[in-house]
Amino acid sequence: MPQDAPEYTATRLIGIDEADAIEIAAGTLMKGALAALPTETVYGLCALAARDDAVAKVFAAKGRPARNPLIVHGADRAMLEALAEFGPDASALADAFWPGPLTLVARKRPGAALAAAATAGGPTVALRVPAPAFVRAVAERTGPLVAPSANRSGKVSATSAKAVLEELGGRIALVVDGGPSAIGVESTVIDTTGAPRLLRPGAIGRDAIEAVVGPLAAAADAPAAGDGEPLRSPGLLGSHYAPSARLRLDVEAADVRPGEGWLALGDAPSAAGEDHTVRLSATGDVDEAARALYAGLRALDAAGVAVIAVSPVPDRGIGAAIRDRLKRAAAPRTEDPE
Ligand code: TXA
Ligand code: MG
Repeated sequence: MPQDAPEYTATRLIGIDEADAIEIAAGTLMKGALAALPTETVYGLCALAARDDAVAKVFAAKGRPARNPLIVHGADRAMLEALAEFGPDASALADAFWPGPLTLVARKRPGAALAAAATAGGPTVALRVPAPAFVRAVAERTGPLVAPSANRSGKVSATSAKAVLEELGGRIALVVDGGPSAIGVESTVIDTTGAPRLLRPGAIGRDAIEAVVGPLAAAADAPAAGDGEPLRSPGLLGSHYAPSARLRLDVEAADVRPGEGWLALGDAPSAAGEDHTVRLSATGDVDEAARALYAGLRALDAAGVAVIAVSPVPDRGIGAAIRDRLKRAAAPRTEDPE
């Protein structure tokens, strides 16, 4: 199927606690169809990692460029070690953080049962064991699943079933509603194929990773992908995680302009007025802010503001990941965001 012609389907919505939800999700995936499942970070758009046709549907539904590889999710570490060689750093990080919001890039095993498109044809593969028992139980039945964030390419990730339907309704077979995502921003991505390197800041902070493997090289040190090679990291992309409105970052309450939306940390009033304000956290708590981030960007887009002013976000804990996503959301837009 050509990537610009997704197969439109009626999208079924079920609750995570419904009887047979695991079997329904697994059955949908085993047919080669797409199902959005709630992971602890954001909702993931899942498909069988071993099947070319299923993985092709993911790229088509998202409008994702073929050179941007996917994360393969497993029920447990053994399922993923069958696909890739874990060096000492990958082993130590998997021991410390799986199941959980950490993605490891490792060298693909020769003959690994993976669709070539899942790794954008490259020699490495990104791997994660997600925390929710539900997703792991589904993967136990299906085998490894690719699961990019369940949004159109370049757009804001989905942290609720409603947001998934707004992004991908009619393009995928199933959405499992597990309520709002527990963390709200995507996993930390570490390249373990050489000296460990941070490719994407995320839910697990740099300090926690460095406590296990020592100092990390910065994403900026990564060699740039050559033409036609898979991207080394989302850090090399321009605009990403972007709402329709433009963003103005690090704006204090007193500097918000009339007519702007305000994504606020703290409880100060501003010129935006309360109906154009989303408070990520009234107390300045960065974990609470992460959970509210993507829904807040969506809500201010829906309110129709042209510009969203954003409070300064501290660079501690998950705040580093929030700052990273806001920086990308504020980057100049291009025709091909990735
Ligand atoms: O939290 C998450 O990671 C979510 C949930 C659903 O698990 N998934 C997610 O997937 O954020 P996605 O596709 O939106 O982002 C995966 C990132 C991409 O930016 C991609 O470039 C990078 O991981 N990636 C995938 N494979 C890679 C590889 N072999 N080498 C380097 N980077 C890779
Ligand atoms: Mg994404």
